Amino acid sequence: LNVVFAVSEFDGIVKTGGLADAAGALAPVMEAAGHRVKVIMPAYRAALGKVETVSIAGGGVRMNHNETLWFGIRHGQFRGTDVYFIEYDEFFGRGGIYGEGGQGYHDNSRRFAFFSKAVLETCRILGFKPDVVHCHDWQTALLPYYLRVDECGNPFFADTRSLLTIHNAAYQQKTDVSQIDSLGIGWRYYNPACFEDFGMINILKGGIAFADKINTVSPQYARELLTPLGSHGLMESFKRRETDLSGILNGCDYTQWNPETDTLIPAHFSRTNRSGKAECKAALQQRMGLPVDHHKPVYGLVSRLAEQKGFDYLIPALWRFLHNDVQVVLLGSGEPHTAAALEELAHAFPDKCRFYNGFENQLAHWIEAGSDFFLMPSLFEPCGLNQIYSLKYGTLPIVRRVGGLSDTVAGFAEHNEKGTGFVFNSTDPQELFDCLQTSLHVYYQHELFSQLQDNAMSKSFTWEQAADTYCSVYHSLR
Ligand code: ADP
Ligand code: GLC
Repeated sequence: LNVVFAVSEFDGIVKTGGLADAAGALAPVMEAAGHRVKVIMPAYRAALGKVETVSIAGGGVRMNHNETLWFGIRHGQFRGTDVYFIEYDEFFGRGGIYGEGGQGYHDNSRRFAFFSKAVLETCRILGFKPDVVHCHDWQTALLPYYLRVDECGNPFFADTRSLLTIHNAAYQQKTDVSQIDSLGIGWRYYNPACFEDFGMINILKGGIAFADKINTVSPQYARELLTPLGSHGLMESFKRRETDLSGILNGCDYTQWNPETDTLIPAHFSRTNRSGKAECKAALQQRMGLPVDHHKPVYGLVSRLAEQKGFDYLIPALWRFLHNDVQVVLLGSGEPHTAAALEELAHAFPDKCRFYNGFENQLAHWIEAGSDFFLMPSLFEPCGLNQIYSLKYGTLPIVRRVGGLSDTVAGFAEHNEKGTGFVFNSTDPQELFDCLQTSLHVYYQHELFSQLQDNAMSKSFTWEQAADTYCSVYHSLR
């Protein structure tokens, strides 16, 4: 099939989180599965520094009756995939992707409304008739609407269907209704079954209404989206589309995240020969300025600093847990108040806890490789990739039973040696603390700990598996 990936991030080009990993891995795998894939993304300033491109054409899109925006198209090859960049400096020639200095750009709705329209126009200019336009998150959630309403009756798109993959339903992009014309949305679609949401325009909500099919990134999160607590306020919208909604578990890009071949870590290791993991642990302890001691268990974390990730109850639990003889290594960037709370914690336990405030891919790999446990107590988690990486590195994940975390980690229980990590239920610091204590207890039972590591390292979640399911969804659209 002819497939267009309309995305705002792509691993290796621009990344703020797992969306980049997912798009960056899935597009080439779909191509390998025999589809003709074209990736279309904005020509952010940062992106053009990463890929060699040539300008190939230009075009214009009508945002509404009296406004046309003219843009350029650049083409490049990235890891063997065709990538097209929409060049419009006023929107994308900026320092950031979605914002700068912790502030989102005020015109994000319009930037990505324009981008979504420009993706369709680019297909027309290239003469590439897509069978499927694969959209990702709110950034391209307007595209299914434009396809169904603006392009209705246009023979070029007569056979084009849309799939909207929701990587995170908490980000919906709500906008003041005064923007409706500048986003090219017709007033008749400003109603609760389409875009209207308590007096605002909700872009993701419109995408859910207009996409031909919708999926999210794990089966459990798909079920949660149909519940009052798990739907981020969009339960009615998801329920209306229940038969078109599915959960497809993300994969892991084992070319990037595999301790046997990872080029970023100090030593290699595998399930059958784990000696290199001890070296990675020592190197991590040294790099972070902690006492180098193989006997002390290391608990790692790599995360966006956002409410989703559960810091509100993790931090109180860690304040108590750090009275044990343990080490905690934290890497994250994002909300300043969370960073401040983590700095305070690290300051209080200088020889046990270190926090690196920033986005550092190599350190993320070192933490996966050198830790004994990985902390991921998310409030909600559409899929989560870090716990999947952790499994492969024999770093036992400690996760809350929610979303993709519960689909990927099997909880250890007494007399059950099948576990691959530790799973708890509530967002109560006490329950997390108890779970941490259990993990510590297991750490000192060497045989048991080693058995759990073995279980974890034998798990594999590949993008090829995910791609099979995406292929079926593509075909079901036709
Ligand atoms: P989310 O997409 O919600 O942030 P995921 O677990 O799906 O969560 O993916 C996060 C990705 O971003 C992983 O590849 C992780 O290693 C990376 N990441 C997150 N924060 C950082 C950071 N501060 N430094 C380096 N990599 C990070
Ligand atoms: C989102 C989610 C995360 C998921 C990722 C890739 O950022 O928060 O759970 O793994 O997208 O799909």
